[in-house]
Amino acid sequence: MSLRENGNLPRLLVIGARGFLGCFVSHRGSSCYEVVKADRTHAGYETDVVIDVADAASVRAGIDSVRPDAVALLAAVSDIDRCQREPGLAVAVNVHGAEEVASACARIGARLLFTSTGAVFDGRKHGYSEEDAVSPLSVYGETKAQAEKVVRALVPSALVLRVPLVLGRSGRAGSNSLLDSMMRRWSAGEVVSASTLESRNPVDAGTLSQWMLELLTDECNRGIFHAGATDTMTRYDIVRAYADCLHIPEQLMRAEREQPPGRAPRGLHHLLLTSKISAVCATPVPSCKEVIERSLNEVAEGSL
Ligand SMILES: NC(=O)c1ccc[n+]([C@@H]2O[C@H](COP(=O)([O-])OP(=O)(O)OC[C@H]3O[C@@H](n4cnc5c(N)ncnc54)[C@H](OP(=O)(O)O)[C@@H]3O)[C@@H](O)[C@H]2O)c1
Repeated sequence: MSLRENGNLPRLLVIGARGFLGCFVSHRGSSCYEVVKADRTHAGYETDVVIDVADAASVRAGIDSVRPDAVALLAAVSDIDRCQREPGLAVAVNVHGAEEVASACARIGARLLFTSTGAVFDGRKHGYSEEDAVSPLSVYGETKAQAEKVVRALVPSALVLRVPLVLGRSGRAGSNSLLDSMMRRWSAGEVVSASTLESRNPVDAGTLSQWMLELLTDECNRGIFHAGATDTMTRYDIVRAYADCLHIPEQLMRAEREQPPGRAPRGLHHLLLTSKISAVCATPVPSCKEVIERSLNEVAEGSL
């Protein structure tokens, strides 16, 4: 992406900047963009502009005031179980919110990156490419699949980045970071349970943010991209790997051999194939081992 007419760096609007991934993208993006951080409220964080994606007027006013060259849309109801319990909210934020942001980007000609999920698939196949038909099991997956369609129809050059599971330390309470919540539980002496049935090819938040920035920078990149590691681990093996690194005793881990009742349905095997992203991005696709190591050693604001 080229410099602005006045010679300044291009402007990247990060919507959902205080979230887990938003913190990483905002920090990393500042090396090549003038980053503008947008959140739902100003409360307690360095937000530059307030944008509530569920409020069309707020989206229009926010994007018109910033006039970004590129937008990373990370705001979402990202908790899969909450989406299942509150489908109206999930549709309002994840589908209609994405639609409003895409309309505003189309109107001002801004580049758009939308973050989607491996949950658009049912997890029955071992290895999904960008061409595979979507088959969501949960309300969350359904809202993301609908949003992908709407975003691509409104902004044909949009990037849709599907992610299976992101690992990293946001350093901020209340975000969607699995590792943060696991570490909080262990510090409080609580047991962490995880499925031995569900496998994922996770990616660390640092690598993912780097890919986002690389994809945005080259305007030839458009359409759907899959992100993830070269190999897969079960959720339980991910927990065990962290427990080993952090010297957590065996009794603070529990293997779930069936899905606990009352949770949103999750696919069994979410391996997102990454040959497309690896062909256009310089940052290499990591192994699960590298993902685990990096995710422990980096917080959103830099390395530990
Ligand atoms: N983390 C993963 O493993 C993963 C995997 C696949 C896909 N993704 C996708 O990646 C994106 C970022 O996820 P994340 O892990 O960073 O989630 P997160 O920590 O929950 O961040 C999402 C952000 O969106 C904000 N938000 C919610 N409703 C909003 C609204 N109406 N208007 C504006 N902002 C709103 C939240 O603000 P509040 O805190 O104020 O509610 C939060 O800061 C999401 O689209 C998610 O679906 C994440």
